[in-house]
Amino acid sequence: MNRKHLVLANWKMNPATLTEAKRLFSLVKRGVKDVKNVEVVICPPYVYLPILQRSNDLAIKLGAQDCFWEEEGAFTGEVSPLMLKNLKAEYVIIGHSERRRYLNETDKIINKKLKAVLKNGLKPILCIGETAKERKSGKTENILKNQLSNGLRDISNIKLQNSNIIVAYEPIWAIGTGIACNEKEARLANLFIKKLLKNVPLLYGGSVDSKNAKDYINAGFQGLLVGGASLKAKEFVKIIKNLAI
Ligand code: PGA
Repeated sequence: MNRKHLVLANWKMNPATLTEAKRLFSLVKRGVKDVKNVEVVICPPYVYLPILQRSNDLAIKLGAQDCFWEEEGAFTGEVSPLMLKNLKAEYVIIGHSERRRYLNETDKIINKKLKAVLKNGLKPILCIGETAKERKSGKTENILKNQLSNGLRDISNIKLQNSNIIVAYEPIWAIGTGIACNEKEARLANLFIKKLLKNVPLLYGGSVDSKNAKDYINAGFQGLLVGGASLKAKEFVKIIKNLAI
């Protein structure tokens, strides 16, 4: 990741049309063209990837929001890390809480995907985070520890430090709710994860906007995973510029 901060846009299942996707992409591209010390990555829905890739000039990197664990074969509806690599995607989000929730993705599945992403030389962003209920009942650290040890199963410590793995702490209660994690809570989670994983870059995600973006950098995170705010070009560019200062 060099010394740069990393900001990923998770567009989720947005925008609804290719025209809007192209427009959003070019507005962001224009907005960040002079920004030096922030690596900007857009993770659009799969269908937009090859089109955005064609109109890209490396000012922005591309990523995917998920992938399957095999490289090719009879897996209806799936997209492989090899296909993503061929489209010049560099990053792949793995284990996002929406996939865990709506598609029943387990840590075991996430682990398989993560290994497939690494095998193909792509950079996985492993998402972990607790629900509001788990936080209230004091289970946060246990949840994070389990998601990490299961998600990273069979990946040795040495391999981990020399790999491209990035971990995103995304408290589920903060995702899409507007209830962002405060700096103190973020710092505690950051320290806890750092104790378990040394030298792995950590991102924060969950209701990030241009007002709170810098707080997470101050709390020790190297970058951000941005959902809702990444769909508003002006706001997203503002987040990136705040980190560039
Ligand atoms: P949000 O989403 O910024 O809309 O809270 C973040 C994410 O889901 O990665």
